[in-house]
Amino acid sequence: PPPGWTTDADVVVIGSGIAGLNGALRIRSAVPGSRVLVVTKDLLSAGSTTWAQGGIAAALGPEDTPEQHLHDTLVAGAGLCDVEAVRTLVTEGPEAVRALIDLGTEFDQTPAGELSLTREGGHLRRRVLHAGGDATGAEIQRALVAAVAAEPGITVIEHALALDLELASDGAVAGVTLHVMGEGQEEGVGAVRCRAVVLASGGMGQVYAATTNPPVSTGDGMALALRAGAVLRDLEFVQFHPTVMWLGEESSGQQPLISEAVRGEGAFLVDHAGARIMEGVHPLADLAPRDVVAKALMRRMRETHRPHVWLDARHFGAEKWASRFPTVLASCRDHGIDPVTDLIPVAPACHYASGGVATDLDGRSSVPGLYACGEVACSGVHGANRLASNSLLEGLVFSRRIAAAVARDLPPAQEPAADRRTRGLVPAVVASAVQDVMTRYAGVLRSDEGLREAARDLGGLAVTPEGSTPGTASWRATNLLTVASALVEAARTREETRGSHWREDFPETDDAAWSGHLDVRMEPGGR
Ligand code: SIN
Repeated sequence: PPPGWTTDADVVVIGSGIAGLNGALRIRSAVPGSRVLVVTKDLLSAGSTTWAQGGIAAALGPEDTPEQHLHDTLVAGAGLCDVEAVRTLVTEGPEAVRALIDLGTEFDQTPAGELSLTREGGHLRRRVLHAGGDATGAEIQRALVAAVAAEPGITVIEHALALDLELASDGAVAGVTLHVMGEGQEEGVGAVRCRAVVLASGGMGQVYAATTNPPVSTGDGMALALRAGAVLRDLEFVQFHPTVMWLGEESSGQQPLISEAVRGEGAFLVDHAGARIMEGVHPLADLAPRDVVAKALMRRMRETHRPHVWLDARHFGAEKWASRFPTVLASCRDHGIDPVTDLIPVAPACHYASGGVATDLDGRSSVPGLYACGEVACSGVHGANRLASNSLLEGLVFSRRIAAAVARDLPPAQEPAADRRTRGLVPAVVASAVQDVMTRYAGVLRSDEGLREAARDLGGLAVTPEGSTPGTASWRATNLLTVASALVEAARTREETRGSHWREDFPETDDAAWSGHLDVRMEPGGR
């Protein structure tokens, strides 16, 4: 059926984390009088930003420079970062963070009243700002939500899933269809006609059975962009966080994160015999880049036939645990572990999509009028492995640039061309089958044999007959399947090991053959 209702706005922002809300605020000030609509699938604060623990990186310390931050980011990115994108990130980062402070974000300070800066994996300087100890994202989200609430030019629709872009006959964005799930809003499927769409819908961690990502991270923005014919890039680089609390083989869904900042403050990884794992593996030991640590843990788990290793931070003592890491402390205690006296069982789990919708330095995708920012995007700053705490910064810096670009680019509204709504949604039950396949064959360790199995199984799921009620649960399953299939295609193609892409059958990095990016695109309207 055609959309049940239509409305209009100048710009629709899809997603409500740091990229979306900061983008909406910035667009409002860059384009005077503009009507900005923020659409979010759940509550305004349900996304990944709220869950961010460690912090936000910026070269603000007395011994730090953007050049040093550039260096550390490029090293972590394993040869695949776009240097100009990283330069933009690190040089504009400090000013963007100051603006966030001016907006009301309260970062932790030293007793002398300076910003308190910590380290995480791959950072050679103290440059990670944090708030509430380890509740950085929640504080940033609080400040942004308050600022958006005070801005009458921004309308928010919660509980609304963005389905597909509407495109004009010249291929530019003309609108977006939504499935509004109620809560006092106009319900059902409708369309917002608009002049630009900013995708800020976050990642896709839920394609795996165990992830640090919240339940909303189902790759909706990446799938929508693929269906609109946009180019996606670097999808094979999915970062696994080394220290996710291990809750047992059967535990699935969002898992508790033990922030890398815990290691930044001196915690270390040990095996079941009590031996330090990271010593001798990398000069930075427990603070090596994330992919190096995740691989070392996987190797030790294999050698010792154990499903996890241990993180030791008992030496912090009760007071430091309570003041510096209250979130992690509470979540450990919720699971019966007291990190003041106990080792914490940890194992790598899916954490961050380094790739996504390919963008230029102003967040423009390959579809005119479609911008992307934050985890849904591939701006080039992360390469093959994101440096810890660069993601909040990316959302902040590039949402500012998008606002400036929208102010320059914004075209008149256009009518959508022929109906190109997606058909053939898969039933909701496909979601868990996708997660099983991805966890088994496309996780930390990959091989051609496993990825072939994955492609075959996912192909089989794609022909599953449509469920009788194609509601938001079917969209969720379809989006997971779409993104998982594109990821597996990219992972199969890249026959080398680099950053977070680890091929057992091609264990070396091959700069001669593979120093470029892999782009993925779908026929518009495909699934
Ligand atoms: C963490 O606190 O370990 C997460 C930081 C990040 O992923 O950037």
